[in-house]
Amino acid sequence: MCGIVGYIGTKKACPILINGLLKLEYRGYDSSGISTMENGYISNMKDKGRVKNLYALDGINDLIGTSGIAHTRWATHGKPSKENSHPHMDNSNTFSVVHNGIIENYQELRNVLEEKGYTFKSSTDTETIPNLIHMYYSKDKNYDEKRFLRAVASTCKDLKGSYAIEVLCKEYPDVVIVARKDSPLVIGTGDNENYIASDIPAILEYTKDFYLLNDGEVVEVYKDKINFYNCNLEKIEKDVKKIEWDATSSEKDGYPDYMLKEIYEQPRSVRETIGARLKNNEVVDFEDIHLTKEYLESVNKIYLVACGTAMHAGLAIKPMFERLCKIPVTVDIASEFRYREPLIDNKTLCIYISQSGETADTIAALKLSKMQGAKTIAISNVIGSSISREADYTIYTHAGPEIAVASTKAYTSQVTLLALLALHFAEILECSDKALIEAIKNELLLLPEKLQQVLENVTEIEEFAKKVYTEHDIFFLGRGNDYAVALEASLKLKEISYIHSDAYAAGELKHGPIALIENGITVVGIITDPVLSPKTVSNIQEVITRGAKTLIVTDQALENGNYDKVIKIPKTHPMISEILTVVPLQLFAYYITKEKGLDVDKPRNLAKSVTVE
Ligand code: G6P
Repeated sequence: MCGIVGYIGTKKACPILINGLLKLEYRGYDSSGISTMENGYISNMKDKGRVKNLYALDGINDLIGTSGIAHTRWATHGKPSKENSHPHMDNSNTFSVVHNGIIENYQELRNVLEEKGYTFKSSTDTETIPNLIHMYYSKDKNYDEKRFLRAVASTCKDLKGSYAIEVLCKEYPDVVIVARKDSPLVIGTGDNENYIASDIPAILEYTKDFYLLNDGEVVEVYKDKINFYNCNLEKIEKDVKKIEWDATSSEKDGYPDYMLKEIYEQPRSVRETIGARLKNNEVVDFEDIHLTKEYLESVNKIYLVACGTAMHAGLAIKPMFERLCKIPVTVDIASEFRYREPLIDNKTLCIYISQSGETADTIAALKLSKMQGAKTIAISNVIGSSISREADYTIYTHAGPEIAVASTKAYTSQVTLLALLALHFAEILECSDKALIEAIKNELLLLPEKLQQVLENVTEIEEFAKKVYTEHDIFFLGRGNDYAVALEASLKLKEISYIHSDAYAAGELKHGPIALIENGITVVGIITDPVLSPKTVSNIQEVITRGAKTLIVTDQALENGNYDKVIKIPKTHPMISEILTVVPLQLFAYYITKEKGLDVDKPRNLAKSVTVE
């Protein structure tokens, strides 16, 4: 769950590496470091804390090397400290390594190395890697130009777990060697220079031409050539991929934080999600996933599997899938699904939702279901992400890069895309009322405009947030789709404001949660479904009677009910209402967090992409 960057070319590497790390802090930010190839030695500078601390390190401005590797860390093995920061070097200071992932057998490897006299300065799994490379390198008496490469490849064969690594060797100053397994790594190529990164936004301002690495590959990156190998060091060919993202779209565009920018991007991101699929604004087009009527008729169960916000997107769309496609749908948390021996066979369709496409549990769950004969579809926001390479089919949300740790625009795009997929299946299966399908399509097309309206009406949310930002507990209530949004709104609030918060199906209130309601407590009610509204209204009245302060998000004409604040949003089809109702609640979490003076983009203990279990 860390970020890595590398450079080799003709410019000074240090500023490029630090700049790349700053863009990757969302992957982890408890320590960082860089190694550059200086005249005849490898410089290694690192420290605890945010990437900007690197600027203050003694001698950092004197680095002149034109190749180097860099890392921003989110601790897994070993506490955040200078010793545990990357890069890690071997005992002879010949090799320097940065690593993203977890080496599961590191203790075993460390024992072997210790028996051979190697010593360790850190408590990380990573420090075994440069020392193993050194061990293989010293054994190899063939002093040709591939000696460094062979040592890295042999080391990779010993590693169990996941890794994306970059390696420098002081005896081979013209090359950086990289390798990956179950952890993302890309190479961006330019004129007489090449870039390496765990994530595209880190280097997007320098190039748009990328090579995406696959598991088991080892690569020699020179400034003017790149050699790709499989794990047996047989040469392989790769095609360059053009990444059309605009570099500025991963910057803040004048907003104070990425989260606010991403919330405000939702009219555009949802339009992009729809535009890619609703051809000529009427035909739902998923021809790239080739699922026939015969196959869909054979499907007797759909699993929607994901983590965090992406899992909430699954919950939001489950009712629509079931109602339109008449197939039972189960939404599962990936970390539970992978260990609970779910019932899977070739009649099961598994859909995996992941913004980053790198979440370890989601990928593991996908692999499991594939092995058991299910067809798999990945829904991801990141082109070429690991999940997209594992799944039978991948459909992209096209929400653009999401940088803030708390997911906002990815959620609305995931729900939109899943809604389109449900419509597509229903059209193939011919099992739903055509007028209903058309009505939902029309409403989907109006969403960007309605999202814009929601975003133009934020003053009252900000005012209410200012009233309640000192609270210790805030509860969210809703029924049906509104309950799914309550779960997401509650997650958003706790993630960034650190206020304890829970969401309940409003009908469950009297089965326990109402015991928590006392004078002055804040309760947020979401009320959109016209059939369920009267029931939720009664539940809200029950909490008001017990002294709760209430914020209501609704598209219904509610009678005066002594609510403290009512946020009116435009009406849409009840099956997709969550795409609108979630937005004021994202802003609610945002304004509370700002009022508390916290960092909205980088909440404590959380990382954007959780590539370890
Ligand atoms: C982390 C992030 C969440 C995200 C979850 C799943 O916990 O902080 O915002 O929802 O991972 O991430 P994914 O990339 O798989 O959607």
